[in-house]
Amino acid sequence: MAEKELFLTQKDISKRVKELGAAITKDYENSRLLVIGILNGAFMFMADLVREIKCGLEIDFVRVASYGMATIAGSLRFTKDIELDTQGKDILIVEDIVDTGRTLKHLSHSFEERGANSVRFCTLIDKKERREVDLSVAYVGFEVQSGFLVGYGLDCSERFRHLPDIYYLKK
Ligand code: IMP
Ligand code: MG
Repeated sequence: MAEKELFLTQKDISKRVKELGAAITKDYENSRLLVIGILNGAFMFMADLVREIKCGLEIDFVRVASYGMATIAGSLRFTKDIELDTQGKDILIVEDIVDTGRTLKHLSHSFEERGANSVRFCTLIDKKERREVDLSVAYVGFEVQSGFLVGYGLDCSERFRHLPDIYYLKK
């Protein structure tokens, strides 16, 4: 069994998700908000977050895969695209964790080309150490410097996603 060290409890997460939801509600009150979750990692965060957003919104999901080397710029493809119309919408992309930043950079280009009014990001965790691209994330739940996290949607080879708390995975 891989060893884990507790980082955030369900209670910590829930408190912060409420705060993020309140901030998003305030900022998007008079908008045509489309919240897009990135599968699979963001599924749990997304479900909790949208319940804390008290203005009207639509929900859709994308799934992306990297072509072999994820480090090559632009080497991402959609294995599932959204199905709703983006024209004139204010898009908020919801991610579990930002690492190099390449996934979000790629997605922002893709949605800006589709006639969205605005494209912003919300991530539960912002991992700073390995950032490779310049990226502005409007809503950040928690910042960490480094380490590998699992639980609350975050996985290691598809394991641990179901855990209600978040842990640092030890070697
Ligand atoms: P980026 O394109 O390098 O920012 O990749 C972000 C993606 O890498 C996230 O959506 C996760 O799927 C994965 N990832 C990065 N760091 C972690 C981690 O600590 N735990 C679990 N998944 C991670
Ligand atoms: Mg992910």
